Amino acid sequence: TLKLHDVNQTSFQSALDNVRNLVGSPLAGIDDQEMVDTRPITNALNDLISLDKETGKRGNPVYGNLPRKFNIAVSGSRDDFAHTHINDIGLQPCANAETGEMGFNVVLGGYMSTKRVAESVDMDMWIPATVDAAICLSEAILRIFRDEGSRNNRQKARLMWLVEEKGVETFKAEVVAEMDSYKRKGIPTHYPSQKQSTEPFERRDLLGVHAQPTEGLFRVGVHVPAGRISVDEARAIASLADSYSDGEIRLTVEQNVILPNVKAEKLDALLAEPALNNDSRLGVQPGNIIGNMVSCTGAQFCPLGLIETKAPAERIMKKVDARVEVPKQLRIHWTGCPNSCGQAQAADIGIMGGPAKKLNPETGKMVAVPGCQIFVGGTIGESGHLSLEPYKKGIPIEDEILVEELVEIIVSQFNGKLKH
Ligand code: HEM
Ligand code: SF4
Repeated sequence: TLKLHDVNQTSFQSALDNVRNLVGSPLAGIDDQEMVDTRPITNALNDLISLDKETGKRGNPVYGNLPRKFNIAVSGSRDDFAHTHINDIGLQPCANAETGEMGFNVVLGGYMSTKRVAESVDMDMWIPATVDAAICLSEAILRIFRDEGSRNNRQKARLMWLVEEKGVETFKAEVVAEMDSYKRKGIPTHYPSQKQSTEPFERRDLLGVHAQPTEGLFRVGVHVPAGRISVDEARAIASLADSYSDGEIRLTVEQNVILPNVKAEKLDALLAEPALNNDSRLGVQPGNIIGNMVSCTGAQFCPLGLIETKAPAERIMKKVDARVEVPKQLRIHWTGCPNSCGQAQAADIGIMGGPAKKLNPETGKMVAVPGCQIFVGGTIGESGHLSLEPYKKGIPIEDEILVEELVEIIVSQFNGKLKH
C-alpha cells in the first residue's frame, strides 16, 4: 500500500505553532480566467515548510516552533478563492504595470481568534509569480517572524502584531534586506504593489457543472454538507474520481469537492450516479442556501467548542432551505466558538457559538442555554471585508428559534422570498 508521504501528502506540522496547510486555487490549470497556476508554488512552499532538507523526509524542525501558527494563501485569479485577506501571507495575482509580467501583490497579517480578528494589510510589494520568488519571500518573512516574533503573550503573537510593532514600512524594508541577502538571481524586490485591473469581475461558482477551457472537458463541483463525509461517502467520491476524473479530486475552502476534467460524453452518467442522487447527502445542485455552507469541527470533537456545529448546521440549513429561496448563492458559516475556524466574520451570514439565555416556563427565570451570535455581511473576493460586529447576540441554539432568525435575515438582508 502507498503511504501518505509517497503521494506527497502529510499530516505533519498541520497543527501547533506551525505553518498550516497551504491554500491555492481549486481551479488551477483548468481555468480560462487563471492568472497564475498556483500548484507549483503551493507545492514548493509546502516542501519549504514541511520537508527536512537534510533527511529529505517530512517533518522540518526549521519551522517547527514558530511564535504562533501561520497561514499562507496563494490566489490564482481575481476570485481570490484562497481568501488572501485572512491569512498571514496572502499572494494576490496581479500583472506588473511596467513589464507586463505576471506576479503577486503581497498582503500580510490576516487572522482570526477570540481576542482579535484582523484583515490583512497591504505590504506594498510586488513579486514575480515564480516559485523562486514566492519561496524567497516566504522564507524571509518566516525567518524574521520565527526569530523576532513575540513569544511572551500567545494572544499577541501572530504575524500581525510583529508587523504592527515594527510598522509595515520597516517590516517591508527588513524583508527586502533579508531577501536580498540570500543573493538569489532574478528576484526583483523593488516593485511596490501593482494596480489590479478595474474591469468588472464577478466571482465564479465552484459548485455544479462548468465547461473548462479545453473543449469537451468539464469540472463538476459536488456539495458535501458541512464538510463532513463518512467513510462510505469518501469511498464513493474516490470511485467517482476513478471513473470520471482520472482519479483527481480537488477540495475547496467551502468544504466541497471538485471533480476536474470530466469528459462531455461521460457527464450524464456522472450526474446520474446514485452517490449524487436520491437520499445521498452528496449532490451537484444543492441550491443557493445550502451549497456554500461551511462549518468548523464544533463541540462534538473540539475541546474549545461552545456549541455543536456540523450536525445542527446540516439539519437547520435544510429547514431554512425548505422555507425560503434567494436569487444568489448565500454563504452561511457555522463556527463553534470565537476562534472562528468557520470564519463567521467572512460569511454572508455567520453563526458563532456563544452564551444565550432562555425563559424557563416552570420557574419563570432566565437560564443559560447554548446559544450563538450572528454576523451579517462579510464579503470575500477582491474587495473582501470582514463583518466585525455581530448583527444579533444571545440566540438560543434551538431549531425553531434559529430557523426563524435565519429566515428573517435572509428575507430582510438578502432578497429572500418565502416559499409557499
Ligand atoms: C481545516 C480547517 C480547520 C480545522 C479542522 C480547525 C480545527 C480546529 C480545532 C479542532 C481547534 C482546537 C484545537 C485544540 O484542541 O486546542 C482549533 C483551534 C483554533 N482554530 Fe481552527 N480549524 C481550522 C481552520 C481555522 C481557521 C481558518 C482559523 C482562522 C480563521 C482558525 C482559528 C483557530 C483558532 C484561533 C484556534 C484556537 C487555538 C489556536 O489559536 O491555535 N482555524 N481549530
Ligand atoms: S471555531 Fe470550532 S473548531 Fe475552531 S476552536 Fe472553536 S469550536 Fe473548535
